[in-house]
Amino acid sequence: MNCTHCHSGNDYTVEAYAADTIELKQTARKMMVIMNTINQSFFAGRQVITCWTCHQGEQIPHNVPNLLIQYGQTLPYEPEEANQQAPGQPAADEVLDKYLQAVGGAQRANTLTSLVAKGTNRGYGPENTPRPLELYAKATGQLTTITKTDDGDSTSTYDGRNAWSAVPHKPAPDPVLPLNGDDLAGAKLDATLLFPGKIKQALVEWRVGFPSRSPCR
Ligand code: HEC
Ligand code: HEC
Repeated sequence: MNCTHCHSGNDYTVEAYAADTIELKQTARKMMVIMNTINQSFFAGRQVITCWTCHQGEQIPHNVPNLLIQYGQTLPYEPEEANQQAPGQPAADEVLDKYLQAVGGAQRANTLTSLVAKGTNRGYGPENTPRPLELYAKATGQLTTITKTDDGDSTSTYDGRNAWSAVPHKPAPDPVLPLNGDDLAGAKLDATLLFPGKIKQALVEWRVGFPSRSPCR
């Protein structure tokens, strides 16, 4: 799906996104109500039922089970053991070492202490025009990206502890939005993984899983 399936296209304003002109958007909102109602009513508000529980990658969920899946040889779902190191597979360290080798070796990777880059940000939906991007990063864990949109700069910054984003059209009093939770964790990961020498520290307990295949498509 694309943003324009639910939001009116060719209009970059927040007001256009907020408008309820497209029926699919209203359906999507009803779906949130379905999901929240089930979780609130039966699971004490825990996030047990999600969009995936019913949709499983399909726009309209199947209400008749697929016999090919019921009686087929291939498991459509990731096995429970997906989080464990699979027997017969190489250790994660071996895989990561190959990556470090490919980028010129761990020693060389560690000499990279800062990074300035210019490129193009290609989004999708109504704003899919390529836009200039600037990126500034330090191996001590700082990262700023600036996308130059027609309506002004869209900026994300991580200072090593906190992260913020500022986008065009975000009105006062909160033009700069602090990130927290998973967004903050993601900002930290982005800043760290720009430097290949840090891949083993950025995430721990790496495991190599079973070879698998996407169930959806
Ligand atoms: C399947 C339908 C669907 C798609 C696809 C979708 N949205 Fe939405 N969007 C919604 C719904 C529903 C809401 C309102 C949620 C609410 O009312 O709590 C919403 C709200 C928003 C809002 C907040 C508008 C306001 O009320 O201030 C923005 C901004 C937004 N969407 C942007 C996007 C962008 C960008 C994309 C593409 C990356 C996208 N949406 C794709 C359904 C969709
Ligand atoms: C309890 C099961 C269930 C859950 C949970 C659920 N859906 Fe649905 N959804 C359905 C069913 C069933 C339909 C088809 C309804 C129909 O045919 O009229 C549907 C239809 C839709 C459609 C319309 C598709 C189309 O092309 O008409 C959208 C969009 C959608 N769901 C989004 C979501 C989102 C987003 C979530 C999570 C917030 C969600 N659904 C959670 C069961 C569910």
